[in-house]
Amino acid sequence: MVNKAYDKLDSLVAIVSSVADGKPAGCIVNSVSQVAGGKFSIAMNKDNHTCEVIDKSGLFTIMLPTQDVAAQVIADFGMKSGHQLNKFASMPHIKDKKGVPYLTQDIAARFACRVTDKLDVGSHILFIGTVYEVEDRMDAPVLTTSYYKSVKEGQLPKNAPATSTGEPGWRCTVCGYILESDEIPDGFKCPICGRGPNMLVKR
Ligand SMILES: Cc1cc2nc3c(=O)[nH]c(=O)nc-3n(C[C@H](O)[C@H](O)[C@H](O)COP(=O)(O)O)c2cc1C
Repeated sequence: MVNKAYDKLDSLVAIVSSVADGKPAGCIVNSVSQVAGGKFSIAMNKDNHTCEVIDKSGLFTIMLPTQDVAAQVIADFGMKSGHQLNKFASMPHIKDKKGVPYLTQDIAARFACRVTDKLDVGSHILFIGTVYEVEDRMDAPVLTTSYYKSVKEGQLPKNAPATSTGEPGWRCTVCGYILESDEIPDGFKCPICGRGPNMLVKR
C-alpha cells in the first residue's frame, strides 16, 4: 500500500537538459533544491539517458516550466527516454554559451549549472551544480508536484525519487502514463495522450 506521507511532499517540477558530443538530453525532475547561494542539486536516476549525459559533460540546465506548459512536453520529457529519441527535435529551443539546449516556450526561469560535486545514492546520482548563467524569462506561476498531481492529474513515474513504491496500477502503452489505482475509473481517459482504458496494461 502507498504510504500517504509521500503525497505530502511538494516540490518544483522542472525540466533538466544537458549535452555531450553534440547530442542533447533532457528529462523532467521533481528533485531540484537550491542548496546554497548559486548552487543547486538534482537527483537523477542512473537509468536515465540524461544522467549519463550530465555525467559525461559536467553540465546541466534547470528550466522551470509554467503551469500552462503543454502536456506534450511533460509526456516527452517525463515519460520517454532519450535512449530512443531526440526530445528536442520537435520542440522550440536554443543553446546557451556552453551549447546546452533549453526550451523557449512556457519556461519561467532557467539556471545553467556546471557540476561541482556528485554523490552516488544508490538508484540515483545527486549532482550538485554551480550556476554560470541565470535567466528570469517570464512572470507566470511555475509547475509544482501538487499542481501537476491535482490539476493536471499527473502521476510520478518510477524514476522520480519522491514516489511511492510497490503500488499496483496500470500503465498506458501509448505514452507511459501510470494510473496508481486497483480499478480503472469509469470513463477513464489518459490525461497525457487522451487514449481510453483499452490502452492500459497492468504494471
Ligand atoms: C513529475 C515527474 C517528476 C520526475 N522526477 C524525476 C527525478 O527527480 N529524477 C529522475 O531521475 N527522474 C524523474 N522523473 C522521470 C524522468 O523524467 C523519466 O524517467 C524520463 O523518461 C527520463 O528520460 P531520459 O532517459 O531521456 O533521461 C520524473 C518524471 C515526472 C513526470
